[in-house]
Order: sequence, then C-alpha cells, then structure tokens
Amino acid sequence: MSEVEQTLSIIKPDAVERNLVEQIKEIFIRNNLIIKNTKKIILSKDEAAEFYKVHQSKPFYDRLCSYLSSGPIVVMILEGKSAILENRRIMGATDPKNAEPNTIRKLYGLSIDKNSVHGSDSVDNAKKEINFFFKN
Ligand code: CMP
Repeated sequence: MSEVEQTLSIIKPDAVERNLVEQIKEIFIRNNLIIKNTKKIILSKDEAAEFYKVHQSKPFYDRLCSYLSSGPIVVMILEGKSAILENRRIMGATDPKNAEPNTIRKLYGLSIDKNSVHGSDSVDNAKKEINFFFKN
C-alpha cells in the first residue's frame, strides 16, 4: 500500500503571470492530490537563495534565485498517496522539451528556467520545503 504523503508545490512567476493558477490547481485535484494549504507570496532574492540552497554550487543558481523572486508565486501543500512521486509525474521533466504529453511542464512550461512549477523531490526535502513556507 502506498502511503499518504505531503509535498510542496510552487507555481512559478511565469505561470502566475499568465493566469494559469486555477488550471494548474485543477490538474492536481483531478489527479487525486488535495490542496491542504495555499498562499500567494513574493520572495526576496535572499529568501529564494535560502529555498534553493541545495543548488548553490550549480552554474544556474544565481539566475534561478533571481527568477523565483521576480514576481508572485503560489505555494501549496499537496497531500495524497505517494504525493511526492505523483506530483513529479504530473509536473513532467524539468525541461519542458523533455516532458511527457499532458504534464504541466509540457502544457505550460516555456523553458528550463520558466518551467511553471516546482515540486519536492524526496520525503526529506518535502518536510524541509513545507516547513520553509508553512511554519507552525
Ligand atoms: P525546479 O524543479 O524548481 O528545481 C530547480 C530549478 O532550476 C529547476 O526546476 C529549473 O527551473 C532550474 N534549472 C535551470 N537550469 C537547470 C539545469 N541545467 N538543470 C536543472 N535545473 C535547472
């Protein structure tokens, strides 16, 4: 039996700017992920750098942090069976060019940077990322 998990999802500035929030939320709901908590926020560049610090050694880190802090984002806790893997399947590959048909990134992603959504990649990171945005 697969376990009920929680994962963190971000709708990135490119998708918020194009009014895609409701369409993207509907895709999660249709795929049996429950939106437990959601808020629209703008991160400072320092906050984005903290959030993405696992990528700090990567050549694209600075660009990534500038981009995530460039406009409003919608952050959500998604809950469901195998939510972490399910969300990653629903999002599709990081680069929209390589994403499967009907995944969020294939439908809406513009580039590897403007790829519309982020999702946690492991149980540990899901806990850290949920706590980053939704501290009790
Ligand atoms: P995300 O799932 O939010 O995690 C890190 C982000 O870095 C990734 O989506 C991409 O938007 C961005 N990125 C930019 N260049 C690359 C790259 N070469 N490999 C992986 N991620 C990249």
